Parts: sequence; structure tokens; C-alpha cells
Amino acid sequence: MQRTAHCGELSLSAVGKDVSLMGWVHRSRDMGGLTFIDMRDRSGLVQLLFNPELASVHEEARHLNREDCIWVKGQVVARATKDINPKLPTGQVEVRVAQIEILNRSKTPPFSLEDESETAQELVRLEYRYLDLRRPAMQRLLELRHRVIWEMRTFLDERGFWEVETPMLTKSTPEGARDYLVPSRTFPGKFFALPQSPQLFKQMLMVSGVEKYFQMARCFRDEDLRADRQPEFTQLDLEMSFVFDENPVLSLIEELLKHTFKKNLRVEILTPFMRMSYADAQDRYGSDKPDLRFGLEMIDLSVAVQGAEFKIFSETLKAGGVVKALNAPGCAKYSRSQITELEKLAQSWGAKGLLWIKFSENGIDSPAAKYLTPEIVQKIQRTAQAKPGDLVLAIAGERAMANTVLGQLRLELGKRENLIDKNAWKFLWVVDFPLFQWDSEAKRLQSEHHPFTMPKSEDLSLLEKEPLRVRASAYDLVLNGFEVGGGSIRIHRRDLQQKIFDLLGLTNEETEAKFGFFLRCLEYGAPPHGGIALGLDRLVMLMGGSESIRDVISFPKTNTAYCPLTGAPVEAGDRQLKELGLGIKASAEAQATTTKK
Ligand code: AMO
Repeated sequence: MQRTAHCGELSLSAVGKDVSLMGWVHRSRDMGGLTFIDMRDRSGLVQLLFNPELASVHEEARHLNREDCIWVKGQVVARATKDINPKLPTGQVEVRVAQIEILNRSKTPPFSLEDESETAQELVRLEYRYLDLRRPAMQRLLELRHRVIWEMRTFLDERGFWEVETPMLTKSTPEGARDYLVPSRTFPGKFFALPQSPQLFKQMLMVSGVEKYFQMARCFRDEDLRADRQPEFTQLDLEMSFVFDENPVLSLIEELLKHTFKKNLRVEILTPFMRMSYADAQDRYGSDKPDLRFGLEMIDLSVAVQGAEFKIFSETLKAGGVVKALNAPGCAKYSRSQITELEKLAQSWGAKGLLWIKFSENGIDSPAAKYLTPEIVQKIQRTAQAKPGDLVLAIAGERAMANTVLGQLRLELGKRENLIDKNAWKFLWVVDFPLFQWDSEAKRLQSEHHPFTMPKSEDLSLLEKEPLRVRASAYDLVLNGFEVGGGSIRIHRRDLQQKIFDLLGLTNEETEAKFGFFLRCLEYGAPPHGGIALGLDRLVMLMGGSESIRDVISFPKTNTAYCPLTGAPVEAGDRQLKELGLGIKASAEAQATTTKK
């Protein structure tokens, strides 16, 4: 029994040939004595025809169930013109079956595996993931992921990069999330941390003289999950020695993505990618990952509304805040309830309220109309470039809040008004991030990226006195509003690295305990170096047109970091716990969460 062809590859050129196929029963139809089966393998579908004249074969076919695994032998024949199925790549032919063998029966699947059937509940799809992955749409995504990785590897190999694996059982690498810990049996009471990224190892490989490193690296982060976040995900991680600024890293990634998009999607992307400072991105789009597939930039109305007797404006400006707005083109048609809906959203994102102004040929309609003089209305209209029919939505308050809320509102309006060009690929480098941010709870500085990021050389003198004004030699890559990568030029000198740890509030003892090994490594001729990590899952998700990274991960977890297929995480047995020197304190709360799953 040998397979001689694949279902999805049969075409008119195979007519007359005898083929032997293996795969699954996709669907079957009984038509006036003839039985038709759509048979599926990884390559696609083909129609099988069973003629009652071959009684035993036909009888077998009539009792096939969906997803039975079968082998058939038969002849490829051309379909009559009226029977051609233009929707199916193999729709011009069918296979007249002469022999069949059932390799294995299938129970009725818990959901239909037809291509478009994503109606099944996600939890059920994940519980029966092996069936979900049989669906042609999922197979295409698995293949795309494979091909993207393949092209990336080829590209990097050709440019002298070595793929080097780094440990999974390691010490914490801070990337801003909680660690997943693994207890050690040989050192009771001690724990490994699964890597949040290979950051320190790739830097140490530069000190080892590897010069150009990459890895398809598994990363583990215990953080709140969303559609584009998984607790276990993959990065294309890379690092290069003897780079002194961001340009070599950015142009390498631009070339890599150009190659990958061309090979996999036959899309020509334009390079170099646009660059925008973090400050500009916040100011214009209210986000550090702006979606540039549409305009709708924020407008600062603070100057235009100066002198207005509208209390919300005057008090905000007096307190050092801003009045910022979006001009939603053609949205003056929105009803009160539509606007209230937007206001509620704005409030849920942190705004106190949302002021609206509808522009028409006859003037404005707004709850603030009576407080706004014609001059001020004119200034607002000019600044916002509002035309009759437009709706200006304004927020008064602290700058960061106004930016964030309007940034979210911009995305909402982009979706509602269909402003997003679904076929566009808008890459953007966000650069000039601040090196630190202020953690107001802990009352100390925190790294915006990670503590190994090089400060901009021109800002080094500000480190001690005005650390929050220091910019980092860091860059994020944004694609269509998703952060698909991040990296930086690194600190390669021990004294500067030590100073950053000091500024982050680590005592000498803490620094030694956490990073002593790494500081020592920097003492042995560490070369200047820099790199980046691309979120592979996010990139493939976007390339494949999916809305969740779970679609491009073979066996993903739910939003509560639970695996419905295996039931993990599970309790450990008493013996295992004893070997590890661990005991479990059963709290009512912990029990409740376990049973809830
Ligand atoms: P960073 O933390 O920015 O940088 O991660 C790099 C990229 O990884 C992706 N990513 C994720 N994807 C899915 N699920 C998650 N939970 C998740 N978290 C991050 C994002 C992100 O841009 N060591 C540094 C890189 C460097 O400095 O070279 C790092 O890990 O697309």
C-alpha cells in the first residue's frame, strides 16, 4: 500500500492515471445511487466517485463517516463540463474509486471541520486541537509559519548569522513580566526561571565572539493575556557585535522582512520603513504603536480654545493640562446615542467626559455652543480643519490621559467608519524612547525596555540629574498597529551598567545576586553590540490575516493560561513534591480557581 498522489494536487494533467490516495473523509453525498466523497489530505480536497456497479466498494463508501481515515485507489477522470466545480482547485477532475480500505474509523467530531467553520466555541476547538488543526484554514497557517521561519533562517544564514540555542532552565531575565519558576530537585528550595527572553545569553554570546547570533527562541512570561499575547511565545531573536548605533540593525530587519514578505506573500514592501519618535507617536496618535493604515491624527486645540468661557477648558488649561481632539470626517450625522456610546467608551478608558462639536453649513451644534464665541469656533474649525458634516471630539485634561484616550477613540472610529485600508502593510520604527519611566507605586525609576539598553550618548550627562529626560538607543517595530518587535543598542561597559542598576534602586547586594555573573562578563573585552527580537507569532498572525495569535500557535493556552487539551496545569503528586522539598498550602481561593476551570 503506497501513496502515489496527493488529493489537492490532482488536475487535468493526471487524467487517465491510476492513483493511490490517503487521507480523511471530508464530506459525503449520496446522489441517485452514486456516492460522492470529498477526500482531504494536507494538500487539499478531491472528489471521489463510487459507482454501485462495484458493489462491495460502493457499500463500504456508503458507510463512511466524516473524518474516517481511508486509503483509496482509482483512476483520475475529467468531470463533464456541467459538473466542474470552479471553487475547488481540483474541481475539473474526480477519482473513480476501484479499491478502498478504512485505515481507521473516526468518532463524530465535536465540530464541523469545513473550512469556514469557526463558529465552534474556542474552548472546544482547543480541547480537540488536533481536529481543529485538520481544518484547511489552520493547515494554511501552520504552513505559513513554517515557511516564514524557513525564509528567515535562510536569509540570516546567508548573512553569516549562527543559530545558537540558549537555556530554558535559567535565572530570571527581566522583561517586565512575572517569571515561570521551576523547582530544583537537586537544590531543594531553589528555583530555575524560564526565560522571558534570551537577552542576557545573547549578549554573553557577543562577548564569546559569536558576532552574529539568531534563534527562534521560546519565551515565557506570566502576564495578563490578550489576543496578541501568550504565556509561551516565540521570538526571532538576534544580536550583532560591533554595531554602534541602530542603523545596521534596522536595515537588516527591513531587508529580512522584505525578503520574507516577498517569498511568502508575494508582497513587495517598501524600505526603509518610516521612523517616528516615541514623543511624536504619543502626541499625534496617542500610542507607542500607531496604526498608520489611516490618518485621523489628534489635534491640539489648547491654543485655539484659549480665552473660552467654558469652565472645563479654562480650568484644564490653568492646571497645565491640554485640550486635544479628533476630527471625525463626515460624522456629524452621528445620533446622540451614538455619541453617548463613544463618551462611555472614553470614560471607561479614563476620561471624565467627551465634548462634541458638530459642524454644519449653519454653524455648530454642541453642548458647549453657548460658551464658544464665533472667533473661538472659527479657531477650532481652522485648527481641526473641520468641514461642514464633520464631528470634532475633544478631551480636556492631563496630557498623557488625553493622548491615551483619544488614541483608543481613534482606533474605534477607524473601525466604525471603515477608514482602515485592509490591504496595506504599514511598518513603522518607533525610536527615541525614554530610558526610564517613573513607577509611582514603588516610587522609583523603572526601565522602559530592559536595564541593558544603552542611553543615547548625547543624553548621558542627564543620567544623574534628570534621568526621566534621558532617551534610549531603543527601537520598536510596529506593523499595522501591532508591536511586532523591539530591541536596542546595549550597554557593553561594566561601569555604565552598574550605574543603571544603581539608578533603578538596586542595592549592591541585589545587583550582585541578580546580575553579578553578567557584570563580570562585561569585564572581559565585551564588544559594542545591539540587537532586536521580533514577535514571530504576531508577525505570522498579521501575515496570515488572523485576529489572534492563538491561530498561529499549534497548541496555545487560553486567556487564563490554561491548556484545555491536556488540562495543564495540574497538581503535582505528593512524592514529586516531597522530592522537590515543596508543600502546598491549600487556600480556599486557590481551590475555587482550580474548580472554576
Ligand atoms: P520585547 O519584550 O519587546 O523585547 O519582546 C519582543 C517582541 O516579542 C513579542 N512579544 C510577545 N508575543 C506574544 N506574546 C507575548 N506575551 C509577548 N511579549 C512580547 C512582541 C515584542 O515586540 N529581549 C528583548 C529584545 C531585545 O532587546 O533584543 C525583548 O524580549 O512582538
